[in-house]
Amino acid sequence: MSERWTPDSWRTKPVQQIPAYPDAKSLGEVEAQLATFPPLVFAGEARNLKKALARVAKGEAFLLQGGDCAESFAEHGANNIRDFFRVLLQMAVVLTYAGALPVVKVGRIAGQFAKPRSSPVEKVDGVELPSYRGDIVNDIAFNAQSRTPDPQRQLMAYRQSAATLNLLRAFANGGFANLASVHQWMLGFIKDSPQSRRYKELADRISEALDFMRACGLNLESHPELRATDLYTSHEALLLGYEQALTRVDSTTGDWYATSGHMIWIGDRTRQLDHGHVEYFRGIKNPIGLKCGPSLKPDELLKLIDILNPDNEPGRLTLINRFGADKVADHLPQLIRAVKREGRMVVWSCDPMHGNTITSTTGYKTRPFDRIVSEVKSFFTIHGAEGTHAGGIHLEMTGQNVTECIGGARAIRDEDLNDRYHTVCDPRLNAEQSIDMAFLIAELLKQERAGKVKPIPAVAGF
Ligand code: PEP
Ligand code: CO
Repeated sequence: MSERWTPDSWRTKPVQQIPAYPDAKSLGEVEAQLATFPPLVFAGEARNLKKALARVAKGEAFLLQGGDCAESFAEHGANNIRDFFRVLLQMAVVLTYAGALPVVKVGRIAGQFAKPRSSPVEKVDGVELPSYRGDIVNDIAFNAQSRTPDPQRQLMAYRQSAATLNLLRAFANGGFANLASVHQWMLGFIKDSPQSRRYKELADRISEALDFMRACGLNLESHPELRATDLYTSHEALLLGYEQALTRVDSTTGDWYATSGHMIWIGDRTRQLDHGHVEYFRGIKNPIGLKCGPSLKPDELLKLIDILNPDNEPGRLTLINRFGADKVADHLPQLIRAVKREGRMVVWSCDPMHGNTITSTTGYKTRPFDRIVSEVKSFFTIHGAEGTHAGGIHLEMTGQNVTECIGGARAIRDEDLNDRYHTVCDPRLNAEQSIDMAFLIAELLKQERAGKVKPIPAVAGF
């Protein structure tokens, strides 16, 4: 791996999960056009996120990462973006206040379009067509034309990402995120929900604290951290041609950055040591994530860390664990021990979604809330036992009142999934389930700080 890196050196390696475009010429034209477009994010912002994540790696902060499994062209709208931003802010407030740790907020948004699939084809009633790979590649409708990879979609995805990012920046800095509005972030449908009382109590205490500070003579207006927030973007950088086109040299340092999002990650299906995705990621300076599933062995993880973070820079690498509630105890401790033994600085984050997907009795892909909770609790318990920081959470979630994951405070049942099942890919936590999760994690963080994460009998059930 000491060979020279260039933004296109991944092309000399084998790659998984990249679609076969029938029209290579028009793909080349689109990539050439993208290469002339402005960057979506700036290197300095990616460096700020890396600094914030370095604090997480040192146990001084918590990473909250979440958003759609896959963004879609059809669902692109201001209300969706606002509702997502609002629920993420609410979760961050719960975690900051109840968990008493700074929270680093990262959305799976403004670029989360390309999807890896377990099968390259889908068969319905004897008809076989290419699988849907996300709106940046093809259309979900089941007909030959829709499923043919179309490079023009990359231009649409770029423009949608730019528009989404524009609104997020306005929300983050234009007053919406002012902590004094903590009550107004209450979503309409959450008002009568079991979480609303807890959230309102917490918001009341924050308002009192702000009033107290004002009464003491502090000028809160002069503190930007109370008036605005930092929200970073992230996605799985799967479609390497698109990523390459948006890879740019930072003029202040001379380093290469992916400018498609602040943080990008390698999926569990594309982390082969000698393949194209690892090759691409080693050369860019952004903070990056690596999904770690049950097939990842400790020695392979250490080799990946050697390639992806050779200077052992804190904040550079986030290990996103996604084992499943029934497997996490068999896999996570050995990875933590190997990383600790070699003195590697990483952020440990828990994705309790991707290892807990099942098919419901009504035929929907779903995730039981109990299993999601169980994996999160195990994650904290294991880190408590190993003496490491349970650094973050990675969720598929939405600000909408969907019915995609069963269970939670409203006990969504198999039969309810049909009501509001909107995801184009994996099932997401709805806004209530997300807030519930935030309160649970805040409790676990408090226990971590007190040095007593309780063992969980629940995990034995799975
Ligand atoms: C995802 O995050 O949507 C995903 C496909 O995850 P994984 O690579 O962990 O399967
Ligand atoms: Co997913």
